[in-house]
Amino acid sequence: MRIFREKDYDGMSRRAADILGAQLLMKPDCVLGLATGSTPVGMYDLASGGYSRGELDFSRAATVNLDEYKGLAPDDPQSYHRFMREHLFSRVNLCPERCYLPDGAAPDPDAECRRYDALLDALGGPDLQVLGIGRNGHIGFNEPSDAFSCGTHCVRLTQSTLEANRRFFAREEDVPRMAYTMGIRNILRAGAVLLLASGGDKAEAVHLAFDGPVTPRVPASALQLHPNVILVGDEAALRLLQRK
Ligand code: F6R
Repeated sequence: MRIFREKDYDGMSRRAADILGAQLLMKPDCVLGLATGSTPVGMYDLASGGYSRGELDFSRAATVNLDEYKGLAPDDPQSYHRFMREHLFSRVNLCPERCYLPDGAAPDPDAECRRYDALLDALGGPDLQVLGIGRNGHIGFNEPSDAFSCGTHCVRLTQSTLEANRRFFAREEDVPRMAYTMGIRNILRAGAVLLLASGGDKAEAVHLAFDGPVTPRVPASALQLHPNVILVGDEAALRLLQRK
């Protein structure tokens, strides 16, 4: 595991964008596993800037997102499809046909999970998987539970996650209660994992994930089993981390 301690959110985003850029240079036809949420927005901005300046070329890459709200269609303003279009897809030369997310409006949830797993298998899994971390230690929407999940599945979001997501919605009742997410096994199949963490409210989760035991009560702790994890965090988020 490699740890980059950056001063603040901007430093974290810069470092993360450099790693994303290096992945594209190393393997232009790579599969990028992507996350939504506040944490990677700065990285997406910088990567888009890199593309505008001619430094980065996404034309041969494919992307697979971790998750999507169940019940939200791809054109819903709150969907992760829209989030990704706004923050990255519309700003770089990714081929839209190779940008994949679970379909929140799929009529048959089980079939949708199987479809997404088959897609991940066909792509060979992500070369680099970007992750944020929830305050409760979730990655993707793998919430604390009694067992690690395997493939793509549908989850009921915990109270802590619903509260964290509340800020993106006008009314509390609009916050989706369920989501599709890649499972822990899907995530662990990535060639490399880039975990981003910013802010003091992530410090406890980062500490439990990497200093504590591997346990499904802290889903991110499964990353201890992955041979190539890059943790990029700012000082506030890594404040409690003991691992060097
Ligand atoms: C989003 C995702 C989530 C977030 C996590 C942190 O696609 O998979 O696990 O990464 O909830 O969210 P932020 O970055 O908003 O703190």
